[in-house]
Amino acid sequence: MSARKINLTVNGRAVEAEVEARVNLADFLRQTLALTGTHLGCEHGVCGACTVIVDGRPARACLMLAVQADGAKVETVESLGTPEALSELQLAFRDRHALQCGFCTPGMLMTIEALLRVEAAPTREQIRDVLSGNLCRCTGYQAIVDAALDAAEARRGTR
Ligand code: FES
Ligand code: FES
Repeated sequence: MSARKINLTVNGRAVEAEVEARVNLADFLRQTLALTGTHLGCEHGVCGACTVIVDGRPARACLMLAVQADGAKVETVESLGTPEALSELQLAFRDRHALQCGFCTPGMLMTIEALLRVEAAPTREQIRDVLSGNLCRCTGYQAIVDAALDAAEARRGTR
């Protein structure tokens, strides 16, 4: 097997690692870096559970090889907040009951996080549009969209 050395930044931390060329970014994050917040559902780019932010844009970690992240800035759900200090978005999800089993939630959070960075005041339709790539088996999306709107408002400091 051909291991390659990669250097990247994960959640603000410089990471140097040797990875097999076949290892996808999601497995690398989970198994090598123990960042298990990134979930794998379909492993085919369909469900969005594995969504992380790569160089500022949401990306399917199951469709990207770890070696492709060489030199990139990767952010996972672990970067958003801590149990003691949740981010506005995490607080909004909690307050709106926007998760049930929670399996798809990390991908939802990272998808919305990426949106809120480029669109401070998204419409309900914009939120629904970006979330169309995140499949949730548990719940309707109403509370999730409400949470995204709340988080946007909180970030704008208008409440
Ligand atoms: S696990 Fe990556 S999109 Fe489903
Ligand atoms: S909260 Fe269970 S799959 Fe989305």
